[in-house]
Amino acid sequence: MNILITGGAGFIGSHLCDYLLADAQNSVTIVDNLSLGRLENIEHLLDNSHFNFVELDIVKNVNLLNEVFQQGVFDVVFHLAANSDIAQSHANPSIDLNNTFLTTFHVLEQMRIHGVKQLVFASTSAIYGDTPEKLHENYGPLLPVSHYGAGKLASEAFISSFAENYGIQSWIIRFPNVVGERTTHGILFDFFRKVKANTGYLEVLGNGEQNKPYVYVKDLVEAILFVWQNTNDKLNYFNVGVDSQTKVSNIAKIVLEEMGEQREIKYTGGSRGWVGDVPFFSYSLDKIHALGWKAKNTSDNAVRIAVRENLRLFNRLLHK
Ligand SMILES: NC(=O)c1ccc[n+]([C@@H]2O[C@H](COP(=O)([O-])OP(=O)(O)OC[C@H]3O[C@@H](n4cnc5c(N)ncnc54)[C@H](O)[C@@H]3O)[C@@H](O)[C@H]2O)c1
Repeated sequence: MNILITGGAGFIGSHLCDYLLADAQNSVTIVDNLSLGRLENIEHLLDNSHFNFVELDIVKNVNLLNEVFQQGVFDVVFHLAANSDIAQSHANPSIDLNNTFLTTFHVLEQMRIHGVKQLVFASTSAIYGDTPEKLHENYGPLLPVSHYGAGKLASEAFISSFAENYGIQSWIIRFPNVVGERTTHGILFDFFRKVKANTGYLEVLGNGEQNKPYVYVKDLVEAILFVWQNTNDKLNYFNVGVDSQTKVSNIAKIVLEEMGEQREIKYTGGSRGWVGDVPFFSYSLDKIHALGWKAKNTSDNAVRIAVRENLRLFNRLLHK
């Protein structure tokens, strides 16, 4: 298959590339503006004749994106490009308007213009907002509390209308927190930096009681491909995750253990880490379990593996 991955130099996108290129029948093109992604995540693929990287901004370089679609003749697009740093857009909401929503709109437009008929979309638990309810796929009303969640929900809405209007078959996969090698942002790097700053303590945003499911990236990529290959509705939508959770206080302890460091953990207090943070959520996974997929790693397990993997990267970047 001829495959386009947007955001392919990012954390999850680069793992997806690895999986898709393991099948010699596939050719993969990625587009990424490297705003959050890293060349290092894909440099092991650069010599592969089935792999093509185009550095471009989907919103600012629509003409170049059009050329990529013209040349690519894609069978399917995996759209992962977005602002993945949720806290960042509190001060500047246009980050999510552009990188989370408009990227989706421009990708859909190119698919319409060039007749590409399959889209797999990286959505998120953030569309559900902040609620103690168990989140099943048909839960509503959907009231996101972050600009990021709003940008993803608006993306889902346009995917639905493009599916209806232009016959673009779509898979909306709602990820929980994802951890693993090549993370580009988020809590683990934040903790590593704070420990290395050597202030004598580790500061944790909020009261540490934030409790969420963390899925290991390789489990997630397998789930994305499993859902795509095993469902065939016009619009397919699934929660993906693990049926266990990890508290932020526990992540801090795992980080200190794996770094071999002892620090007092100081909590800044309050139930959430930042404005727009959802301190607790719990997914219903009945739909994806019934389809036949279950994560191999528990949430705690995923966090521990991810800490080990990312510490190696963090130390390498530190000594560059
Ligand atoms: N990591 C998670 O915990 C998580 C959870 C839920 C959903 N998701 C979604 O999964 C997808 C991948 O997330 P990730 O963690 O790999 O994040 P990431 O930041 O590592 O990857 C996103 C990529 O998109 C690129 N990008 C952003 N704006 C762009 C633009 N305008 N043009 C071109 N490229 C652009 C970035 O450079 C980056 O490489 C995102 O859509 C994210 O919202 C991630």
